[in-house]
Amino acid sequence: MKVCCRAPGKVIWFGEHFVVLGKPAIASAIDLYARVCISSSQHTIIESRDKNLVYRYSRDKEPPKTLKPFKQIVDYVLDSNIVEKLRSFHAVIESDIPIAAGLGSSAATSVAFTAALLKYHGLEPSHKLVSRIAFEAERIVHKKPSGIDNTIATYGGFIYYRGGFMKRVDVDWREDYTLLIVDTGRERSTGFVVKKVLDRYSKWESVMEKIYGVAEEITSRALELLVKGDLEGIGELMNICHGLLVSLGISTYEIESIVHTALDSGAIGAKITGAGLGGSVMVLAKRGCVDDLVKKLSLLSPRIILVKPVSKGFIIEEK
Ligand code: PMV
Repeated sequence: MKVCCRAPGKVIWFGEHFVVLGKPAIASAIDLYARVCISSSQHTIIESRDKNLVYRYSRDKEPPKTLKPFKQIVDYVLDSNIVEKLRSFHAVIESDIPIAAGLGSSAATSVAFTAALLKYHGLEPSHKLVSRIAFEAERIVHKKPSGIDNTIATYGGFIYYRGGFMKRVDVDWREDYTLLIVDTGRERSTGFVVKKVLDRYSKWESVMEKIYGVAEEITSRALELLVKGDLEGIGELMNICHGLLVSLGISTYEIESIVHTALDSGAIGAKITGAGLGGSVMVLAKRGCVDDLVKKLSLLSPRIILVKPVSKGFIIEEK
């Protein structure tokens, strides 16, 4: 028996970091995927094809750092009796989503792994259960995750997310607009950046409270504009939101060069997406500007990916 599952990466349009302290955020799934295939095997093996790592599961043996979330998922489903008895398996994990780039690669792999693992054990992986289990894995990677990454990788589409609750947002994506993901080429740990922001918050609480209030207002206005399909307005709000993210101390020279080059070359919006301090910049532009943007941004970025929002979260393929 073989069960495969794929789950999408994501971009956060509005509210990253602010969401960690309970403010709302808006995210959408994008057409980059992590895939996990689980087949029967004599021993339980977890393998990352991209990182070339193999770990033979045993309760008392720690895996290499990259594979820790998957061991956590297996331990969790056993400890909470979601799976009564482990059937040994070989899991192969692969992903098109750049790692540590703000695109939700860890959440997408955890979601795909969880759904495939449940299905392999004859359980129906509901969205709610998969997201909850993947959240346990996110805790290992990110320390204090808001839960937005596992939620969007599970449900897909556009979501408005706040304090553990999500609402789907109906967005008709307009094909005359393009979304570019511009990688700074600098990997970073989300946990580290989140801690840095929380430290700034504690030090300057009375100032930060106001900035967090403005972020909340931007996200609510963005929700109205997305539903109306006003992407010009969304671009402008992205630029305002980026200014707030700069004030959290998570921008870098590379990020600012990309943002300013994009805006000077006709983009309507450009902002950090995800944790920042490296990772990716998301750029919203009219289709006609894309060639010029790619040409200019290629001088600043090792990787530019044109992506589209997608409506589905994880998908199981039984083989
Ligand atoms: O891991 P990233 O770069 O996709 O960032 C996740 C978004 C944060 O708001 C920075 C953290 C969180 O848990 O919401």
